[in-house]
Amino acid sequence: MNHKRVLRLAVTVAATGALAAGMTMTLTSTASAGTTLKASAAEKGRYFGAAVAGQKLSDNAYVTILNREFNSVVAENDMKWDATEPQQGRFNYTGGDRLVAHAQANGMSVRGHALLWYQQEPGWAQNMSGSALRSAMINHVTQVATHFKGKIYAWDVVNEAFADGNSGGRRDSNLQRTGNDWIEAAFRAARVADPGAKLCYNDYNTDGINAKSTGIYNMVRDFKSRGVPIDCVGFQSHLGTSLSSDYQANLQRFADLGVDVQITELDVMGGGNQANIFAGVTRACMNVSRCTGITTWGVRDCDSWRGSDNALLFECNGNKKAAYTSVLNALNAGPAITPSPTTPGPTTPGPTSPPPTTPPPTTPPPTTPPPGPEGCTASVSLNSWNGGFVASVKVTAGSAGTNGWNVSVTLPGGASVTNTWSATASGSTGTVRFTNVNYNGRLAAGQVTEFGFQGTGSGAGLTPTCTAS
Ligand code: XIL
Repeated sequence: MNHKRVLRLAVTVAATGALAAGMTMTLTSTASAGTTLKASAAEKGRYFGAAVAGQKLSDNAYVTILNREFNSVVAENDMKWDATEPQQGRFNYTGGDRLVAHAQANGMSVRGHALLWYQQEPGWAQNMSGSALRSAMINHVTQVATHFKGKIYAWDVVNEAFADGNSGGRRDSNLQRTGNDWIEAAFRAARVADPGAKLCYNDYNTDGINAKSTGIYNMVRDFKSRGVPIDCVGFQSHLGTSLSSDYQANLQRFADLGVDVQITELDVMGGGNQANIFAGVTRACMNVSRCTGITTWGVRDCDSWRGSDNALLFECNGNKKAAYTSVLNALNAGPAITPSPTTPGPTTPGPTSPPPTTPPPTTPPPTTPPPGPEGCTASVSLNSWNGGFVASVKVTAGSAGTNGWNVSVTLPGGASVTNTWSATASGSTGTVRFTNVNYNGRLAAGQVTEFGFQGTGSGAGLTPTCTAS
């Protein structure tokens, strides 16, 4: 793809921005020392993923690194339109299913990529236009999202719909020519088909505050204001020899709209600045509480679509590169995310705490932090409409990890649960208890999993209580 070669040049600064006030998450500085990308990311409540080309799953050396270092995968090509619907109405899920099976067997989450994209359209769709294409594309979204329902953490519902350059507008394509509302129509169809998946818009050349990222920002703001279901924005981050100084600020401004952000296709031109840029991107994600994970677009340099750029974290022989170490260190140095289910505490100290009975220690506190609370915590995010709602529940394991978990919520009177995914519900009204399914019960310390449910009536004010076993 030639357009990927036109990478933005900008000043290299990994800015550590001030945290936005009023967040529902708090960031605390906790040194840690994970020794793999996935462990270090999980300690900070994030995932670390890789794009996987199907045939690589039979390469033992590759799979060894994948399973050791990554806890999220995305299909490099196998879930795209040309792969999943090669002829109209004839669906092929062989590659996608194989990747999902690998992920489930190895405790990895899956990003779905991509339901609609102007590239890698099957030939039959390339030849379509107008209302015939509109219904074919919505059918594609519905069929594919339904097939993978309950198995996808986040879908790239629409990929690369904005133009490069200064227009800030949409890219021309046969999809765009079906009408400017094609993106929101796709998101609505995806939500109906898989209400448990986070729905993302994904693009490149959005690595700072520029005309293109601002165009996308305005679309997301509009979607949020009109209730179009969008949960996240993916920043591909195919990078050259520098990193924009406002990379983090750009992530933060999207997060401030009320969506998660993710680094979805990270790769960086090899050479002197590579390790710094990888570290800068990682730090930026860690500093934005709604940045939920990072995916590199491949595992080893020779797996990369960028040919001889040596753009990834591992050499072809499997050795870790300097860039690997810089990412690991940035993950370990990052602030931990602590979900705070209640509103922020008072800013003034409580009135009655007794004075300490022992003198304060004269030696400095130990450098290893005290263990966090055991058990688990849960937080709910709600998408409601008149008469119904979809609740997405994030379960985070405490310091001891979990063998299993359950989450109880008490529904308002008149509300009832009609559908649950990635958990089993007992009861449907009043206090409902959700228990893990077999693949998401066992969580490492700090690891996060999600489940969801749909209901009728109001879901307002749900307060989850998590219990670990
Ligand atoms: C690339 C794959 O890596 C290649 O194997 C394929 O030939 C072309 O697509 N942006 C995206 C990805 O969203 O889907 C692209 O993946 C890279 C650019």
